[in-house]
Amino acid sequence: TFCSIVDIFAVFRPKIIMAEEGGEDVAVQVSLSAESRQVIRQSWREIQEDISRVGVIVFCRLFETHPEYKDAFLVVRDIDDLETLRNSRELRAHSLSVMSFIEKTVARIDQDELLFELILDLGKKHYQYNALPKYYQFMGEEFIQAVQPVLKERWSSDLEEAWKTLFLYITSTMKRGFQQAQRDQNHI
Ligand code: HEM
Repeated sequence: TFCSIVDIFAVFRPKIIMAEEGGEDVAVQVSLSAESRQVIRQSWREIQEDISRVGVIVFCRLFETHPEYKDAFLVVRDIDDLETLRNSRELRAHSLSVMSFIEKTVARIDQDELLFELILDLGKKHYQYNALPKYYQFMGEEFIQAVQPVLKERWSSDLEEAWKTLFLYITSTMKRGFQQAQRDQNHI
């Protein structure tokens, strides 16, 4: 299967904990330095050429390493028929949505307010999808693992830090959006 081919990338695979999912209202303030923005933009050009492969790797790894993610995803989808292929298509489509969202993010990386609103809004949508914040961090972990082999020797610890920070920003802002939508819902 594609997942087992992808597994050759899994050899050295340290566990990256992206963010503590602490109390309900913890909003992490994350800021990206000018250097980080620059290395993200640069590396994205290369990652982009391989975007669908990276998307598939992220998708495969997600439910290999975190089977609970798959459950969380399916629970919200009202899928009666749990036929494997269809499930895969759903999750695969989501990985590609994530990739194109990262593309949008990188394109707006210097437009702080716009970026914030975009991600906040995505978090609000995820409240509607019932996709809980505790699962968001897996996406960043798997993304970083997947792009490392694409960039080969051009991967560096600075680059890793920059991408980790970006994902931390995305996931913590999505979490804020999720919580805002949750509060709004409770007040109606
Ligand atoms: C960094 C983390 C994530 C990003 C950037 C992300 C991004 C996206 C995007 C761009 C969409 C399409 C939004 C639209 O409707 O316009 C989407 C939809 C969705 N996401 Fe996520 N997502 C993330 C994490 C998750 C997680 C962890 C789950 C489930 C546990 C999840 C479940 C869903 C569902 C159910 C939908 C709607 C159906 C679909 O479009 O496939 N997402 N996500």
